[in-house]
Amino acid sequence: MTQVTVFGGSGFIGRHLVEHLARAGASVRVATRHPSPTGEPPRLARIQQVEADILDDVAVQAAVHGADTVINLVGILSPAQRHTFTAIHEDGARRVAASAKHLGVRHLVHVSALGASRTAPALADRSKAAGEEAVRAAFPEAAIVRPSLVFGSDDHFFNGFAARARRLPALPLIGGGQTRFQPVYVEDVVAGFAAILAHPASRGKIYEFGGPQVYTFRELLEFVCAMIRARPLLVPVPFWAAELLSGLLQVFPGAPLTRDQVRLLRTHKVVSGSEPLLGDLGVEPQALETIVPEYLSAYRQVGRG
Ligand SMILES: NC(=O)c1ccc[n+]([C@@H]2O[C@H](COP(=O)([O-])OP(=O)(O)OC[C@H]3O[C@@H](n4cnc5c(N)ncnc54)[C@H](OP(=O)(O)O)[C@@H]3O)[C@@H](O)[C@H]2O)c1
Repeated sequence: MTQVTVFGGSGFIGRHLVEHLARAGASVRVATRHPSPTGEPPRLARIQQVEADILDDVAVQAAVHGADTVINLVGILSPAQRHTFTAIHEDGARRVAASAKHLGVRHLVHVSALGASRTAPALADRSKAAGEEAVRAAFPEAAIVRPSLVFGSDDHFFNGFAARARRLPALPLIGGGQTRFQPVYVEDVVAGFAAILAHPASRGKIYEFGGPQVYTFRELLEFVCAMIRARPLLVPVPFWAAELLSGLLQVFPGAPLTRDQVRLLRTHKVVSGSEPLLGDLGVEPQALETIVPEYLSAYRQVGRG
């Protein structure tokens, strides 16, 4: 039976992947900083949790030991103390890849992001690009996946904006809401990972995972508001003003937005066309209109037309 270690298996995409792998018969080790009982206990017997911070050499090696497949989904949107973007996205990625190579792992899938580039405005994207290079150097046959915005019933984006749209009288449209996204369904992402693992030809490749359609940030927010029948004012805020304001706010713990998150919106998150896609793995990505309305119905405001 396949033994798979999933770093980041406790996160949004990771939970769906772990469930899929376990149902397909794999024995799955979820490497997390917060194993049960503080975290959510595994629902299937084939899922085991181990404690590992991606910054910790010994813990990473122990989590990888005995696995023939490793998937690294660890990523952050805001740094905290020693968990900087470089420490997590670059050094952590290198640590996982080097351990996997050293311990004879057959398959490594490393999850990056669309927008990853050495010249990107956001450090999150630059560190993801550095992470890809570090993984490639340590484990040349690794497959690298760059998803666009990922949606699903427990996602961050649609649930987060639905909750805010319901609560707040106004929402900012940073950069005028012109950033383009190609939202992709989490189960399609998971099916893509499974196809990568099943196809030897995927080794050493970079995949870009996007959905069937491109939307601007404004269109996505308008869609959320229409779905939940909320009418907050959508206020265009130029990038310079959003960066200034978020730069001031980010000194407070739990700030709603950091300057780097604003900078992430300065580049479009759509597939480039120069790397293979979900379709090349035999996965037909589903439209968000067929999936998102159902789970956003929980936020719907009654008494609005
Ligand atoms: N969701 C999207 O729309 C999207 C789009 C493009 C790319 N991605 C990429 O896909 C990956 C997964 O995204 P997601 O949305 O599932 O993220 P998520 O829900 O925020 O989960 C992040 C995961 O990273 C783990 N993690 C964070 N710091 C860690 C550390 N120091 N050591 C070990 N584990 C650590 C967390 O585990 P614990 O807290 O349990 O330790 C958690 O399982 C990320 O790399 C992200 O950049 C996501």
